[in-house]
Amino acid sequence: MTVKVTVTGAAGQIGYALLFRIASGQLLGAETPVSLSLLEITPALKAAEGTAMELDDCAFPLLQGIEITDDPNVAFDGASVALLVGARPRTAGMERGDLLSANGGIFGPQGRAINDHAADDVRVLVVGNPANTNALIARSHAPDVPADRFTAMTRLDHNRALSQLAAKLQVPVTEIKKLTIWGNHSPTMYPDLYHTEVGGKIAAEQVDGEWLRDTFIPTVAKRGAAIIEARGASSAASAANAAIDHVHTWVHGTPPGDWTSAAVVSDGSYGVPEGLISSFPVTSTGGHWEIVQGLAIDAFSRERIDLSVRELLDERDAVQALGLI
Ligand code: NAD
Ligand code: LMR
Repeated sequence: MTVKVTVTGAAGQIGYALLFRIASGQLLGAETPVSLSLLEITPALKAAEGTAMELDDCAFPLLQGIEITDDPNVAFDGASVALLVGARPRTAGMERGDLLSANGGIFGPQGRAINDHAADDVRVLVVGNPANTNALIARSHAPDVPADRFTAMTRLDHNRALSQLAAKLQVPVTEIKKLTIWGNHSPTMYPDLYHTEVGGKIAAEQVDGEWLRDTFIPTVAKRGAAIIEARGASSAASAANAAIDHVHTWVHGTPPGDWTSAAVVSDGSYGVPEGLISSFPVTSTGGHWEIVQGLAIDAFSRERIDLSVRELLDERDAVQALGLI
């Protein structure tokens, strides 16, 4: 059966890197036909049409149809996968409250449209920043959708951490298991190597503490800003790749003996307040994320996790005060 995948911000740079991979079968697999719904703001509809023309020109065997709209109620109608990429970026002179309000104006109505029109099995991934809090806003407008269907993306941070560690230890990324990103998709995120295994041994014990603290953590946490500085634009292909990885893992599951990172609704695990959308170590089985339980958290990790969770609480309080959730 054809699966409807909705992509918001479809004419943006992540959209351009994402749509062709979805249509080629990399999101849901080579056996699953897809139809694409491209949601854009009215002035960007023409650009979205251009992208749709290119999608047509690929003659993808799995692609059953393309819809282009500026109406969230149309875009999410019958959607089983919703990739919320379009967001309001911070511009010069914009206060944090203005940014949160502008995004509330996007993610509130989109959450409501998902609630009212999406398929019963809808899965939502928020990529647009501030991703965790935008996901919280969308979720709060979708009371009829199970909370665990709303997620935010920290898979890019996870992949960045895998790559940095692989380079340090000179091993292929495939040898690294059980890496975790905790907290917010922001520079406060905590990439945790204390449970990560490389060649069956704990990664944190294979690198020196100074590298872990002063090089690894800040490199991963500030990678987004470093890409912007180098490219003059924020990461797009790697962000699209991480979105593909996130949904693919969600649908097809994590391999035995490993886990990944995703921002999911907290059930109170590891002292993260219930309801916050925070990154955890997660496995996926039968199409459902589960937070990995029972990990011992040392004092260093505790402090880092708490710092990032504090930031999420502050963002939640700010959107609550603005009446956005
Ligand atoms: P972009 O500016 O190139 O594209 C964004 C698109 O969203 C634009 O085409 C815009 O018209 C559209 N848009 C704006 N409001 C919309 C709305 N209400 N409905 C539908 N579309 C709307 O930006 P980009 O490079 O594609 O990045 C998109 C977002 O992803 C940004 O917020 C960026 O910060 C974020 N991002 C997140 C991660 C992550 O790891 N979570 C990584 C990279 C980028
Ligand atoms: C990233 O991690 O690359 C992005 O979230 C950076 C950004 O601000 O868009």
